[in-house]
Amino acid sequence: MEAEIASLQAAALAEIETVGDRSSLDAFKVKYLGKQGEITKLSEGMRHVAKEDRPRFGKALNELRQSVTSRVEEREQSLASQADAEVLSRVDISLPGIPAEQGALHPLTHLLDRAVRIFRRLGFAVAEGPDIEDEWHCFDALNTPQDHPARNEQDTFYLPDGRLLRTHTSTVQIRVMENQAPPVRIIAPGAAYRRDEVDATHLAQFTQMEGLYVDRDVSVADLKGTTEYFFRQLFGSETEVRFRPHFFPFTEPSYEIDIRAKSLGGKWMELAGCGMVDPAVFEAICQKRGDRAFDPDVVSGFAFGFGLDRLAMNLAQVPDIRMLVENDLRFLKQFSAL
Ligand code: DAH
Repeated sequence: MEAEIASLQAAALAEIETVGDRSSLDAFKVKYLGKQGEITKLSEGMRHVAKEDRPRFGKALNELRQSVTSRVEEREQSLASQADAEVLSRVDISLPGIPAEQGALHPLTHLLDRAVRIFRRLGFAVAEGPDIEDEWHCFDALNTPQDHPARNEQDTFYLPDGRLLRTHTSTVQIRVMENQAPPVRIIAPGAAYRRDEVDATHLAQFTQMEGLYVDRDVSVADLKGTTEYFFRQLFGSETEVRFRPHFFPFTEPSYEIDIRAKSLGGKWMELAGCGMVDPAVFEAICQKRGDRAFDPDVVSGFAFGFGLDRLAMNLAQVPDIRMLVENDLRFLKQFSAL
């Protein structure tokens, strides 16, 4: 028996040296270590061995199984690393890599994000409305009479069914008040559309941010405090803010806001329209809602709207407004540091 064990060991260890791939290694495992393999068969011979010799043979058989098993494991590893090396040898490491590109925010998105963050801190929520609107939300509810030039077909994009592309984001004021009772504190950033000769400073589509605050006892002081705070947060604490009397149908009194800031080149810039919500707007809302939630004798409010395109152009030193919408990567890639 001892001789048999020794010769099986010699045969197995010699044979495994000739194993060159995975499938012959599997066959080898079956042949020697399998349930009906040579080593198992030899173990069955133990039955004929004298009782006192069994522990010795048992030990020798165990050692045999162990030495073959550990050789098999070694072989498995070396075959696996051979296979890896072969795959790697086919990779051309001299090829140039694919650079990881870094994304950048569009100058408008960047400005909008900052603006929204400032108003959020003041408790304003972001509201939305559709770009395709009806005349009531765009004009009538905003106290803009039938013969107002803004309603002219030459100035606005009408759809065949009479709806139109909203000419300002003020429509969202109306949408919000239809669905929400005071207090209302919202901003509404979004696109607005007007017919315009397209050139370096004009587009038929532009970006505005509307704001509305309605509650009891809202005054011009709140309007000035809020907008001044906003512009100083946005452009620096040294920013000067100027309110010029103006006219808008949906506010009374109305103002235009000019600001002057170092970060904007140190010149006065006209940025926004604003004012105290006209009682006629509240009346239109009450009529539509069928309640007195926005009774102008009880609530008051301020509203503002400003254009973001010129601001973004100024901050990012963009010379032509068309660049904002052309999606030219050569342009967009310049803003990764914003
Ligand atoms: N909707 C006006 C425009 O597009 C801007 C504006 C002026 C909005 C005064 C307001 C406001 O909310 O109160 O020119």
